[in-house]
Amino acid sequence: MIHHKPPLLLLILLITTAIAAASATTISQQFKEAPKFDNAADCPPTATDTTAIHIAMTLDATYLRGSMAAILSVLQHSSCPQNIIFHFITSTTTFSSDPTRLRATITTSFPYLNFHIYPFNDSFIPGLISTSIRSALDTPLNYARTYLADILPLHVTKIIYLDSDIILVDDIATLAATLLPNDTVLAAPEYCNANFTFYFTPTFWSNPSLSVTFTNRNPCYFNTGVMVIDLQRWRSGDYTRKIEEWMELQKRMRIYELGSLPPFLLVFAGKIAPVNHRWNQHGLGGDNYRGLCRDLHPGPVSLLHWSGKGKPWVRLDAGRPCPLDTLWAPYDLLKSQVLFDS
Ligand SMILES: *[C@@H]1O[C@H](CO)[C@@H](O)[C@H](O)[C@H]1NC(C)=O
Ligand SMILES: *[C@@H]1O[C@H](CO)[C@@H](O)[C@H](O)[C@H]1NC(C)=O
Ligand SMILES: *[C@@H]1O[C@H](CO)[C@@H](O)[C@H](O)[C@H]1NC(C)=O
Repeated sequence: MIHHKPPLLLLILLITTAIAAASATTISQQFKEAPKFDNAADCPPTATDTTAIHIAMTLDATYLRGSMAAILSVLQHSSCPQNIIFHFITSTTTFSSDPTRLRATITTSFPYLNFHIYPFNDSFIPGLISTSIRSALDTPLNYARTYLADILPLHVTKIIYLDSDIILVDDIATLAATLLPNDTVLAAPEYCNANFTFYFTPTFWSNPSLSVTFTNRNPCYFNTGVMVIDLQRWRSGDYTRKIEEWMELQKRMRIYELGSLPPFLLVFAGKIAPVNHRWNQHGLGGDNYRGLCRDLHPGPVSLLHWSGKGKPWVRLDAGRPCPLDTLWAPYDLLKSQVLFDS
């Protein structure tokens, strides 16, 4: 590993963003340059689009610090980091997600990263979300994972989707090697002990024409923050449309309470290829308001996921970290930030 000094000019670039629509707090963040990560000797010499591992993440100002840490963790634990291609989806409707500035931020910290940025016009998403479930945590960009097959170029046939509040502590190549047998479209860790009833309303379960969708399936909860997706099968099965149909129904009758997750469960639960639980140790965000910390689930860990209300960088800044937040801290690339009211 060779550490290059970052060009001073680029470091002066500021990321100015409105962190949340509700509060008028503006944040300027500068990030350090990450070390250069080289391929091991036995890696394919160059990553062509077909030998590469393709990773999709959304990129927006609010979660930028999380995304930067996630990228670093992927590279650091990969045996062939130069064979990874990142695909970042940004929103065209949020001022703070200006692709040019985000590109400069990524390049400053990761000058060697193979990546693409896709501005996603998500202005139509609010029209698909019922206002009752919309919240600050449920931004239109949250729904980008539904549109990966449309956003990414056709030659990308398999994608790993990752949320921005994750840290890998294992080689992503292992996850990328997940087999999708029998025409399965999606692979993710499944949790069959979770009470599946909880994710849908009594209105849904009491309507036989709706609940029939789970007949002859063994539906289990899965978290959409870590998914391996066969994009060719997704495209040929038009799964984006299938998910949208449930979202349109939700606008007319309340069949679930949460945001982007239930439509995925409706379309895919019981039909996915399982992935070892170690690849999504989720729920570490716990509950910010009650200050609850979560522990790891039993078993080995390859990926830590701070899903839930609390984020490790927020708790670390506040001086009230959860014990597991100290596992996130070593990947934090933040150099400095200025918070001010605008
Ligand atoms: C996004 O789409 C909307 C509706 O189709 C359009 O009015 C708007 O101009 C588009 N925005 C951008 C940035 O392309
Ligand atoms: C694929 O489907 C066949 C027939 O339904 C089944 O016997 C087999 O176990 C499945 N394979 C996997 C890996 O799920
Ligand atoms: C799951 O939750 C529903 C609704 O809260 C309840 O009626 C049902 O008994 C629960 N099932 C199990 C297996 O705990």
